[in-house]
Amino acid sequence: YSAPKTIVVIFGATGDLANRKLYPSIYNLYRKGNLTENFAVIGVARRSLDVQEFRQNVRNSVSDSIKESRNDIEEFSNHFYYHPFNVNDSASYKELKLLADQLDSTYNTEGNRIFYLAMAPEFFGTIAENLKSEGLTSTNGYSRLVIEKPFGHNLPSAQQLNEQIRHAFTEDQIYRIDHYLGKEMVQNIEVIRFANAIFEPLWNNRYISNIQITSSEVLGVEDRGGYYEKSGALRDMVQNHMLQMVALLAMEPPIKLNTDEIRSEKIKVLRALRPLEESEVHTNFIRGQYGSGTMNGQQIPGYREEQNVDPKSNTETFVAGKLMIDNFRWAGVPFYIRTGKRMKKKSTKIIVQFKDIPMDLYFNKDRERQNPNLLIINIQPDEGITLHLNAKRPGQNTKTTPIKLDYCVNCIEDGINTPEAYEKLIFDCMMGDATNFTHWDEVALSWSFVDTISKVWENEIATEYPNYPAGSLGPEASDSLLKKDGFHWWPITDSKE
Ligand code: BG6
Repeated sequence: YSAPKTIVVIFGATGDLANRKLYPSIYNLYRKGNLTENFAVIGVARRSLDVQEFRQNVRNSVSDSIKESRNDIEEFSNHFYYHPFNVNDSASYKELKLLADQLDSTYNTEGNRIFYLAMAPEFFGTIAENLKSEGLTSTNGYSRLVIEKPFGHNLPSAQQLNEQIRHAFTEDQIYRIDHYLGKEMVQNIEVIRFANAIFEPLWNNRYISNIQITSSEVLGVEDRGGYYEKSGALRDMVQNHMLQMVALLAMEPPIKLNTDEIRSEKIKVLRALRPLEESEVHTNFIRGQYGSGTMNGQQIPGYREEQNVDPKSNTETFVAGKLMIDNFRWAGVPFYIRTGKRMKKKSTKIIVQFKDIPMDLYFNKDRERQNPNLLIINIQPDEGITLHLNAKRPGQNTKTTPIKLDYCVNCIEDGINTPEAYEKLIFDCMMGDATNFTHWDEVALSWSFVDTISKVWENEIATEYPNYPAGSLGPEASDSLLKKDGFHWWPITDSKE
């Protein structure tokens, strides 16, 4: 391929996301030679900075992230420009256009532009409309809009936002970020399923008894209390990341590995998600909120004591749920999901539990039944796959013992340093590959599923809060959810939970 030629305009250039993720990712692309000389970045934010101050910020954020001194950082930062900006002022867009046009000829970027909105969503619509009306999107090259979540806070608000954006950009120009789709092992789900002969024949309700997806975090809400209060774990994690993983696990093999085919298979899964009646929410979804607790020997405050959080907050910091997919492949197979903050361990894992063997020849009264076969997709922090099988216990007997076949991408010493999600996604966008971004239909279907749950939860005060201590595995009700079906959560740590 030839290296992309483009101008990236980052709105929210002084913000946390830009500093922590975007600049280091663009630098990594540069360092690896994926970006040559034909690119420039215009940072846009309210603050008045001159270009030298901005370049210094960029250098700092890159050096912080790579923790080694490299002499190409200076050269890299010379591709960065700054434009102080007022969202509602059309003069601001005119000046931005002049700068972009000028850089276009300096860097020979052929009119290609990426507008990356790394800022509060209330401005997405206004910015998109102004970009169009002030002529920033009419060049000879491409114009693409990258937007960060949250994409609305329910279906109606997401629809409204989408309509505003669609005045200025067509669906295929819009790149909605779900950073989970940039993770190495999330991308590997498709490869494990479709590049191996041994899984796909078993990948259905005849051989799989249930699938468990856990995404647990050790961190609390940090300084995002204000945002999180209105969002909660359901909107923050389930509507996007968790349902995206469900879609990748459950979809039919696409006829080709291109954006449209993959998206259309994922959309079918989301369409087949069994919608919940309001009266079913309590039996299928449970919520939790962390109280104070001890983590690594340190006393941690409860959610209600965090900054910008209501001391009587009704917001959930934990969700566990059971999803059913009503199609031929998955009828009767529960997909259990759980996610929460301030849990025991940072871990994102998918555990596929296969059905028991039809008859246990090795069963004897001293021992329990054979362990079921498990396929574990470790997404983070370890990246890899583990397959749990049963084998003969060595010696003169017919006893069995559970064994694990383990492939770990990043846990060997000097292991492969897989690129960060953002690095891959930014590059995909530059190359015009929207496969790992979410289509509007996926966003809409996910909201419509989640909205019923939030409606029920918002209308009830959670009198049981806080219902799990920081550093635990969530509320007990999360275990009961599986117990009712005769299952249990498989451990997400190696030690006994
Ligand atoms: C973000 C959420 O989308 O994902 C955060 O807004 C959450 O609240 C984060 O912490 C988790 O991402 P990761 O990559 O650390 O699992």
